[in-house]
Amino acid sequence: MNWSQLRQNYPATQKGAYLMNAAIGAPHKRVFETSLKWNKFTLETAAIDDIKFFECLEAARKTCADFLKVEQKCIGFAPNTGTNMNILAGTLKTKTSKRKVISTTDEFPSTTLPWLHAGFEVDFVSSVDGFLGIEQFIEKIDDDTAAVVVSAVQYLTGFRLDLEALGLELKKRNIPFIVNATQMLGVFEVHPEKFHATALSASCHKWLAAGIGQAILYLSPEWCQNFSPPFVGWSSVENYWDLANDRLALREEASIMEIGTLCFERLAALQTAIEVVLEVGLPEISQRILDLSSEMHLQLSQLGLKIHSYRKLEKHHTGIISFSIENHDAVEVAAALKEKSVFINNRKGRLRASISYYNNSEDIERLIVGLKEIIKG
Ligand SMILES: Cc1ncc(COP(=O)(O)O)c(C=O)c1O
Repeated sequence: MNWSQLRQNYPATQKGAYLMNAAIGAPHKRVFETSLKWNKFTLETAAIDDIKFFECLEAARKTCADFLKVEQKCIGFAPNTGTNMNILAGTLKTKTSKRKVISTTDEFPSTTLPWLHAGFEVDFVSSVDGFLGIEQFIEKIDDDTAAVVVSAVQYLTGFRLDLEALGLELKKRNIPFIVNATQMLGVFEVHPEKFHATALSASCHKWLAAGIGQAILYLSPEWCQNFSPPFVGWSSVENYWDLANDRLALREEASIMEIGTLCFERLAALQTAIEVVLEVGLPEISQRILDLSSEMHLQLSQLGLKIHSYRKLEKHHTGIISFSIENHDAVEVAAALKEKSVFINNRKGRLRASISYYNNSEDIERLIVGLKEIIKG
């Protein structure tokens, strides 16, 4: 793969050292062109060929299903993971009288707040130096445990959980496994059936770089049956083009949570983003991100900074490195780096640099030079 040639297709990388991929991935030009094409289609034809919008929805569903290696009926779409988690919490509340879910202290709030709002207690597993062990989750399981709800990759530290090991333990105990794969989609394989997920949500604007406003919901085939989300809409029923308004014949598919008309241009863009990843090659992307993140980790370590990400076993690595600089405020450091066209995030008082496959060693070099200048004062 000619990575430097490929990089030309990601305009955000031309702004400097773009290391904010865990916030918003830099979209490939083709993703933008697809959005534009569908916008233009709406402008020029409005409803004349509106069947094409629904064909676009089902094409995106098929692409996502193939990407996740699941049946099409298991895939639904929402604007974000918060929506998906609210739907799952609201559904589980009616399916069980158990009221505890297990999550982690490092979680992104979209994973936990909807469960608190739905009346569940969240029992938080504490990470130790960024590490989360399977047994820490298992120890917390009791008779009141309704589910384990956790991110595949933690947004704060980049820790990659052993999903297969945890999923297997939960399956043995018949505990639903609800995964937020937002920080993993587009970097590593996300095959929910391989790790026995009951449900999974993934927002698509990060490593998949599909643009903002689209999330995937996966439901296991068992959960597709008798799935009764808190909200339904005109497109949630069998033969929805009959437009019957006096009968509730819900389909046994994840898509019944879509509630109504979707943003078709976003779905088309999502399809293009997946096609780009498949063209570059997911194994190649995974390896490139692991290599670049090891290089970035080494260089940050050599500066003597405090690294918060767990970096011992490679199976837990990702493109996210979290760190802090003694006697320096993270907000101020990120702002000073921005002045030097080095773009990283501050999250909860720490700095977070996140590196993707379209980045390169020069981006790391710019980060290190920028940090050295800031430290020197
Ligand atoms: C793990 C994780 N989940 C979800 C999100 C986004 O949540 P939502 O799609 O609800 O805006 C983020 C970051 O913004 C995240 O890091």
